[in-house]
Amino acid sequence: MSVAASPPSATQVIPVLLKGQKALVTGANSGIGRAIAIALGQSGADVAVNYVDGDAAAQEVVDAIIAAGSRAVAIKADVSDEAEVQAMFQRMYQEYGTIDILVNNAGLQRDAPFDQMTLAQWNFVLGVNLSGQFLCAREALREFKRRGIVREVSVAAGKIICISSVHEVIPWSSHANYAASKGGIMLMMKTLAQEGAPFGVRVNSICPGAIRTPINTTAWDTPAAYAALMTHIPYKRIGEPEDIGRVAVMLASDLSDYITGASIFVDGGMTLYPEFATGG
Ligand code: BGC
Repeated sequence: MSVAASPPSATQVIPVLLKGQKALVTGANSGIGRAIAIALGQSGADVAVNYVDGDAAAQEVVDAIIAAGSRAVAIKADVSDEAEVQAMFQRMYQEYGTIDILVNNAGLQRDAPFDQMTLAQWNFVLGVNLSGQFLCAREALREFKRRGIVREVSVAAGKIICISSVHEVIPWSSHANYAASKGGIMLMMKTLAQEGAPFGVRVNSICPGAIRTPINTTAWDTPAAYAALMTHIPYKRIGEPEDIGRVAVMLASDLSDYITGASIFVDGGMTLYPEFATGG
């Protein structure tokens, strides 16, 4: 008999694994980024909450992290702009002295059938989703290499977590820009993991499936849409942002110290070819 799964409680206690660590989460004022920033704060990290629009929402995330007992600061910057990224890292160093954890989360969609997609739509999505991750990862790597390992904080010199998608492997009609950006993240992440490992830097991706956030409201906000979505998800529930936050804590912590260069799919089985569950 199949059952309707329900998520772990959003108030589930997060273990304190990140005390003394300084984290930057991009695109942290909503959706997955927001949940990751709060989870890292609950786990003891001090967090810089990057955002590009929406001061009030960013402040609300800062307040939630402070309420959890960690430090937090909102930093406005467009991750696709080199000068703004560099200024954001300088601000982070003024606030916290250094960085231990970068979560490359900022991302967006501008969907169109391939033959109708404008170059502006293509460049915008690649600029934020892929070049933005490159620019932030480059700054973090520079600091990790400069500073090296601080044993009281972590056995690694630094951790980078890239938020990719199931669409780093699943082609997605009418989303060529988005799928290309996520496929690009996969090999950027693995190449950086190879390059950073000798310096004690771990680099991994989380590949979310369908998560209940503003990016994909139309996929879940009516009973018909939700039922259609479930045909893609063997585990029979949508993902919640906290599902991703918990995995980010694990990947940022020394519990996962031997994991680098991995794409961790957090998707309720979306990448398991659900149509092959029967027949084939
Ligand atoms: C996209 C969502 C989509 C999900 C599963 C994500 O990367 O941003 O819009 O629902 O993949 O297809």
